[in-house]
Amino acid sequence: MKLVKTLAEFESARKLLEDKTVGFVPTMGALHEGHASLIRRAVAECGAVVVSDFVNPTQFNNKDDFNTYPRVLEQDCAFVESLGAAVLFAPSVEDIYPAGTDYDKKVFDLGGLDRYGEGPRRPGHFNGMAQVVTRLFEIVRPDRAYFGEKDFQQLAIIEYFVRNLGLGIKIVRCPIAREADGLALSSRNKLLSPEQRAAAPHIYESILKVREMVGRMPVGKAVESVTSLIDGNSLLKTEYVEIINSLTLRPVTDWDEAEHLRLTCAVYAGHVRLIDNIEIK
Ligand code: PAJ
Repeated sequence: MKLVKTLAEFESARKLLEDKTVGFVPTMGALHEGHASLIRRAVAECGAVVVSDFVNPTQFNNKDDFNTYPRVLEQDCAFVESLGAAVLFAPSVEDIYPAGTDYDKKVFDLGGLDRYGEGPRRPGHFNGMAQVVTRLFEIVRPDRAYFGEKDFQQLAIIEYFVRNLGLGIKIVRCPIAREADGLALSSRNKLLSPEQRAAAPHIYESILKVREMVGRMPVGKAVESVTSLIDGNSLLKTEYVEIINSLTLRPVTDWDEAEHLRLTCAVYAGHVRLIDNIEIK
């Protein structure tokens, strides 16, 4: 595997992959088994896999979150190599957003999919994410790109702009990887204290209960019940729980309003913000 840190080096590495189906797994590093599940799948389905490791400043609406985001490139490098990827691309901010270009100013049509959920709570987040993902696609030129349902809204938005901009990249949806106790794997889990870590599986445990509520009580009541279940643990504080149409991402008021429903949530454990979601139907 090649660790590549500049655009020029990446160009040479990319030339060697010209005749292969290139799979791409964009990440912000601090890799865990959730990322590994995407990389393994990409390695199984593609001739060569590129993983990127770049903490994108334009998608952080909170400076502290950006500053405290874990950065462990050496460890990531050994991990990605063990998974069989061809290239780990860890560019600098200057390479992704060169001075004199407008890559960090572009405004994207997100099809209104940023109107709910994380959108209003993290202003600018999805536009910044679209800036970096389109920029990385332009550099890496993948045939297929792998994203996790852990970030369900991000995935829906990426599918939208890839279609809308005619990028011709196959987006592959990958299921959420969880710890044995149910906690969704996340780089942010490293920031939890032992007590918070012990409390965090209560999120998944609580949201699963929504499946028993379907049709038995109004949607609004189910949202309330799940919220109080989560908040029943004194170390957790719900920011939102939503039951959404899986296609439009719009919160529903009736169980029969859409064919596919999902519950999404964001929960604070101290200062650490955790997100999770499950399919309802
Ligand atoms: P990051 O949070 O590092 O996640 C990289 C990819 O791994 C995303 O597609 C995410 O959904 C997936 N992932 C993370 N945890 C997962 C889990 N427990 N199970 C399955 N997949 C999981 O998402 C980003 O980075 C950034 O926004 C990025 C797309 C790289 C753009 O900067």
